[in-house]
Amino acid sequence: MDVFDAAWWKQAVVYQVYPRSFKDANGDGLGDIPGITSKIDYLASLGVDAIWLSPFYPSNLADGGYDVIDYRNVDPRLGTLGDFDELVAAAHGAGIKVIVDIVPNHTSNCHAMFKAALAAGPGSPERDRYIFRPGQGEHGELPPNGWQSTFGGPAWERVEDGEWYLHLFAKEQPDLNWKNPDVHEEFKRTLRFWSDRGVDGFRIDVAHALAKDLDSRPLADYDDDAVKGQLDVSGTNPLWDRPEVHDIYREWREIFNEYEPPRFAVAEAWVHPNHQYLYASPDELGQVFNFEFAKALWSAADFKHAIHEGLESARRSGSTTTWVMSNHDVPRHATRYALPQVPAVTHHQLVNDWLLRDGRSYFEDRGLGARRARAAILMELALPGSVYIYQGEELGLFEVADIPWDRLEDPQANNSHDAGKIKGRDGCRVPLPWASEDRPAPAPWDARFGDGATGTFGFSESVPSAAGPRHASPHLPQPLWFADFSVDRQEADPGSLLALYRRAIALRRELLTSTGDLEVTWVAPEAFGADPSQVISFSRPCANGVLACITNFGERPEPLPAGKVVLSSAELEGDELPGDATVWMSV
Ligand code: GLC
Repeated sequence: MDVFDAAWWKQAVVYQVYPRSFKDANGDGLGDIPGITSKIDYLASLGVDAIWLSPFYPSNLADGGYDVIDYRNVDPRLGTLGDFDELVAAAHGAGIKVIVDIVPNHTSNCHAMFKAALAAGPGSPERDRYIFRPGQGEHGELPPNGWQSTFGGPAWERVEDGEWYLHLFAKEQPDLNWKNPDVHEEFKRTLRFWSDRGVDGFRIDVAHALAKDLDSRPLADYDDDAVKGQLDVSGTNPLWDRPEVHDIYREWREIFNEYEPPRFAVAEAWVHPNHQYLYASPDELGQVFNFEFAKALWSAADFKHAIHEGLESARRSGSTTTWVMSNHDVPRHATRYALPQVPAVTHHQLVNDWLLRDGRSYFEDRGLGARRARAAILMELALPGSVYIYQGEELGLFEVADIPWDRLEDPQANNSHDAGKIKGRDGCRVPLPWASEDRPAPAPWDARFGDGATGTFGFSESVPSAAGPRHASPHLPQPLWFADFSVDRQEADPGSLLALYRRAIALRRELLTSTGDLEVTWVAPEAFGADPSQVISFSRPCANGVLACITNFGERPEPLPAGKVVLSSAELEGDELPGDATVWMSV
């Protein structure tokens, strides 16, 4: 068996930390690296195999840290490289691997390379590291073409000397030119830098965008809608999922394999499911996010389809699959499952619409969302492959829909071209509630959000000041209902969602991770009298026999097969599985 076969990450439970909102050790309202280190015990007790840190590098926060100024450093507001080393040591000491985020499609506009590109002027080698082009119109006053950035508004920005640069995301995130060898060198250095510091793996941001075809015809002739073509499988979209992108990852694989064990990587590639597997092949990144759960409505048909797709894609790549219900880019799944499940042209259409109206347009049935979130995690943890958990989902946090517009940070919400049209992604990025008693005092101007200086649900530690111990307000406001979801309260409650996550992850480790990488046997629900349009049922070999996982997506209780209950997301109704519940059974 080669080392790739036995790799630690193939069945791992990975916890995504969004550092600025996880835990603030120095009281400035922003989560930081020492804050994460102080919570390693919490992560160990959750039972996760690894943590993935969203960017903690120096950044102007034009896009939550995904606008990186220096790839080989720590944002001084979040700590130092020394603090990072301590975090890695503490995590490793607790048996937890560390994955960092690499953002190779674009840098910050304040990155030294971009500053040099601006200073050096048109036609210079420095400028060739980015994508600069002359404009259209008599004086080049119009953008090279009509591409719109994914955050809204033109994807081209003009600089003082009249050239335009491409930015598929915010204008503070200029796209790199991956045809330039300096860009390759910069990232190879970065991968080695973190690998040498003991980092175990990398999450590759927008992995499908690096290679671009911008020169085979005049830019003005390209389709204006090309930026929307992320799911195009033809290989002809000039911006996304181009075949040449795989050469870059083959190059990176050589670097990963310089280390023992080889460094791990997972691609964020919002491409068509039929193309995902390419990024995960063993001579490239090794794993790719499968976002089908994150997109699915709460329905047996959607989830069954998502599981099929995930396993099939993994078989094609020769890797394992991944399961993701939430991350820092999508509305929290407890909320998604609490809202009406209405099919739409684009995923999350209804929840985004609801967010736009500050959560007032549709009824968010939190009891229902909570039951479904419990059922969903048991189903997810029973599957083969890696499970990615987004911070706070283990607490059952709902999306914070009513953040005042003037407190939003996300460029999606703040983009002047789309102002007021998208509420953005901040509702899932609100700092975590660690302690229920440390509550913000409701401020008179808005009873929903408190004045952070009085309490932050244990998110910020107070630091000494002339006026006594103080801390700043959290960078995004915490709603008062966070008290009910705090870690301390859930630790005291054996029936809490946190307790279920801990129990299920521990059982998964004990029973399931040693079994075959992709083995799932579908069991027809009719065989035990259940309704196949509402029930998903599969079984897997496990340490002491066979484990069946049965989820009831419907409202009515459904019969179960003969066997012994190992774990259940809800109390059974006699011998039956209630609606919106999952059970693990030894059969
Ligand atoms: C990825 C990140 C997202 C970011 C974008 C641009 O999709 O997950 O948060 O805005 O890349 O870097």
